[in-house]
Amino acid sequence: MKIDLAVLGRRFERHQTEYENAALRVLRSGYYVLGPEVEAFEQDFAAYTGAKYAVGVNSGLDALRLSVRALDIGAGDEVIVPANTYIATVLAVTENGACPVFIEPDACFGLSAEYLAAAISPRTKAIIVVHLYGQGADLASIMEIAKAHGIPVIEDCAQSHGAHFARRMTGRFGALGCFSFYPTKNLGAFGDAGAVVTDSAELAEKIRMMRNYGSKVKYQNEIAGVNSRLDEMQAALLRVGLRHLPEEIEERQRIAAEYREHISNPWLALPKKREAAEHTYHQFVVRSKHRDDFQRYLKEHGVTTLIHYPVPPHLAQCYRDLGHQAGDFPLAEEMAQEVLSLPLFNGMTQEEVQCVIDLCNDYRPILGGDEG
Ligand SMILES: Cc1ncc(COP(=O)(O)O)c(C=O)c1O
Repeated sequence: MKIDLAVLGRRFERHQTEYENAALRVLRSGYYVLGPEVEAFEQDFAAYTGAKYAVGVNSGLDALRLSVRALDIGAGDEVIVPANTYIATVLAVTENGACPVFIEPDACFGLSAEYLAAAISPRTKAIIVVHLYGQGADLASIMEIAKAHGIPVIEDCAQSHGAHFARRMTGRFGALGCFSFYPTKNLGAFGDAGAVVTDSAELAEKIRMMRNYGSKVKYQNEIAGVNSRLDEMQAALLRVGLRHLPEEIEERQRIAAEYREHISNPWLALPKKREAAEHTYHQFVVRSKHRDDFQRYLKEHGVTTLIHYPVPPHLAQCYRDLGHQAGDFPLAEEMAQEVLSLPLFNGMTQEEVQCVIDLCNDYRPILGGDEG
């Protein structure tokens, strides 16, 4: 059976009429960028997260880089980031001229609070926490340390729409919560889109200005902003997606529960659950010492998987100048060698779920001399 990592068209097909009606409404409205649909989506999304304000922007990266900038972070400043994140988290720091300080992950793929306090210096101006794969990081410990040092937290929620920690939604712990609505995300647009949520009227206003050339009033440019506007089409389609997000998260959780219950193979480690967190399974990530062999085996049987992520940012070619070497963050590097995301998507059939389970259970690695 051929199974892709994600089949986004199934989400569309399920709610096709609603999406088509929303798209037609925009086409006929005469408003195409920053109009009533964006305003309505911002209100809907703020209400969904419980934040006072939501500001729509062009992407998750823009949500992050404008958030870093809104905190007046720039050259000479340090920002703490997890060593096992997607490159965008780090780009948001370096694009502002600041220096990323990497921290090892804990066993649940979140920034490890254990290493955090030691990494804080007088130059630390923010901590970016990433709720990787849809599971909240250790927010209780991280927020406590951040508060004790008076350092603002930015949450990278690109993968954690609707995920909770201690019954509070991710994105609601730090000064700013940054979301991506890239099509593969749990709440996905039909192009690029993102948003920042915050309870601060001042930060919301600043980001609102920055996304639109630094102006509140047309042609009055108070700050040197950027063009990171959300368009009406994406906003209208996101409003449809948002209405169905709770049931779609439940569906992902049901599939993940089946994987957890039925995948049993000593050569594979299932993702560890954090006690206080509610996982929304943006990705279902297993670990294997034989990851590349396992991925090849699944491919041979028609199942597509993906590695999130094969190169940790400190070893990325673009960050050679930071001077890091292999071995600097051994836990993050080990993860990069072992993680594999299995197919899990809305509209996945029972046969597809069962096929992934059976293949996982049947897997045996090709062993070298002293293994096995
Ligand atoms: C953890 C993380 N941060 C940031 C981003 C950036 O989002 P976007 O692709 O919308 O710029 C992504 C997604 O791609 C992500 O996974």
